[in-house]
Amino acid sequence: MARVIILSGAGISAESGISTFRENDGLWEEYDVAVVCNYDSLQNNEKLTVEFYDKRRAELKDKKPNHAHKVIAKLKEKYKDDIAVITQNVDNLFEKAGISHTDLIHLHGFMTEVRCQNEQCNLIFDIGYKNQKDAFNGKCPTCSVKLRPNIVFFGESAPKYAELYKELNDCELFVVIGTSGYVINTDSLVVYAESSILNNLEPSEAIYDALYSKVLYKPATRAIDEIAEDIQEFLNR
Ligand code: APR
Repeated sequence: MARVIILSGAGISAESGISTFRENDGLWEEYDVAVVCNYDSLQNNEKLTVEFYDKRRAELKDKKPNHAHKVIAKLKEKYKDDIAVITQNVDNLFEKAGISHTDLIHLHGFMTEVRCQNEQCNLIFDIGYKNQKDAFNGKCPTCSVKLRPNIVFFGESAPKYAELYKELNDCELFVVIGTSGYVINTDSLVVYAESSILNNLEPSEAIYDALYSKVLYKPATRAIDEIAEDIQEFLNR
């Protein structure tokens, strides 16, 4: 188990040009995210939901990791088992920065993957940046049942949360970067660690920042060097 958890959210990828969820910058204005990212929409308005994810997947192709992803990738390489990199993001920018997919915990799924809807089969396939229907004609190559984005929708359970809670048992330093705290209540997790760092662009109504040992309100790319120094100092003490 790792001594340090780095938990990130949409804010860490914002400077790579991926829109966050709760800031209205118009990028996703064609869609109501609360609707298309809902399990109900996958069931009853599948075409729209699949189209939304096809577009988001295709957009990822040209997105590049930023300084924050790269610094975290270097830290992970150096302190492999001492740092757990856990993200709510479904993009592949940590992977593009060099962290192996299996060394990351993607709590809310992974954009370049699709999954068989047959729960007995449940196979996962990486389709890169393709449209879902262009991969295996949209059907599982093993059992022929329809595929779906490998994303945790609103209204679905998130099995990987168990891994987050497991890591929290041994966590000494809890680092939170770029999340508003509306979906994962980071305040309830920070109490597990003896020390903590919070980095967001600005205060969030869902986070009580007095609970955190250090608070940095600035872009992640400008905060990350100080955060990395703190992590190294912590691990080397
Ligand atoms: N650097 C650091 N933080 C930033 C930056 C930046 N450049 N830009 C924005 N932020 C911060 C904002 O201040 C905000 O607190 O990132 C946070 C983004 O919040 P949300 O858009 O709510 O994203 P997130 O918390 O990751 O959402 C959680 O909600 O819709 C679901 O499943 C989806 O994983 C997502 C989850």
